[in-house]
Amino acid sequence: MRLKIVKARAHTNIALIKYWGKKNTDIIIPMNNSFSLTLDHFYTDTKVTYDENLKKDSFSLNGEEIESQNVFNFLDYVRQLSGKNGFVKVESINHVPTTAGLASSASAYAALAAASSKAFGLDLSRKDLSRLARRGSGSATRSIYGGFTEWIGGDNDLNSYAKPFQENVEWDIRMIAAVVNSKPKKITSRSGMQTVVNTSPFYGEWVKNANNSIPLIKKAILDKNFTTFGEISEENAMKMHALNLTAHPHFSYFEPQSIEIMQAIEQLRQDGIEAYYTMDAGPNVKIICEGKNSEVIQKALKLKFPEIELLESKPGKGIQFLD
Ligand code: PMV
Repeated sequence: MRLKIVKARAHTNIALIKYWGKKNTDIIIPMNNSFSLTLDHFYTDTKVTYDENLKKDSFSLNGEEIESQNVFNFLDYVRQLSGKNGFVKVESINHVPTTAGLASSASAYAALAAASSKAFGLDLSRKDLSRLARRGSGSATRSIYGGFTEWIGGDNDLNSYAKPFQENVEWDIRMIAAVVNSKPKKITSRSGMQTVVNTSPFYGEWVKNANNSIPLIKKAILDKNFTTFGEISEENAMKMHALNLTAHPHFSYFEPQSIEIMQAIEQLRQDGIEAYYTMDAGPNVKIICEGKNSEVIQKALKLKFPEIELLESKPGKGIQFLD
């Protein structure tokens, strides 16, 4: 095989029950199981060219060459799995609005796992793709599948992978990202979660509570019980952020405007419009609602915060090979 070109598309996902801490930081084994929704609006397209004439690997993101040691280490691992010696050219385009500041590592490593493994001649199952994507970024484990997905934490490389719970979501769920303008985040998810694991006196309770929430959220989905679904998601997110305040040194991803948006959602609830929120390792607030309420929620937020950008998503698909 002298030349092989493979293109893959992966969508990002937002965790409703968060992964926040690792048992093994080298191969990314999480402390607890997590559960997410893959989104249709944000995705990464990655083209990998395996060419025997290449002298080294290269990586470009949105047309710009980047010397990313994480990506190069990932490619070394795929090469080793494949038993081949050749190099690859990786070209990624992120269809995550650049201003959004939304985590793109999930879609990025899921697309890279799919395209690079195939370009190196491997033919991995989705389970094995999810194990491979996990080594790039924990959240990428879940982006192999569409819809609602669980990451079974496990305790070693073989038993830590994602499983689809409901790939074709027949429930009109929406996720609206409210983009809070802020400076680039100072604490990466990688360092934030490890500080918490190492220093929070409440960490053990977090792990138990997160694991216990997964069967409950699954039941709420099967029952199409939006209130329970929203409450479990919102409470899990707030527990994760509360944990950050109990670390040493303590830290927070909240910006003043994040709190204002969350309060606006609580006010909408009091006014009889159901919506819930979740937040990750950054200041943006993601609002969970049913399709029937999306417009009125967006109108209310636009009126209160005319400068913020709102990006709506529906449930998205799992990994796709293009062409
Ligand atoms: O795997 P990372 O580094 O993208 O970390 C993800 C951490 C959270 O987004 C906060 C939670 C999650 O499960 O996606």
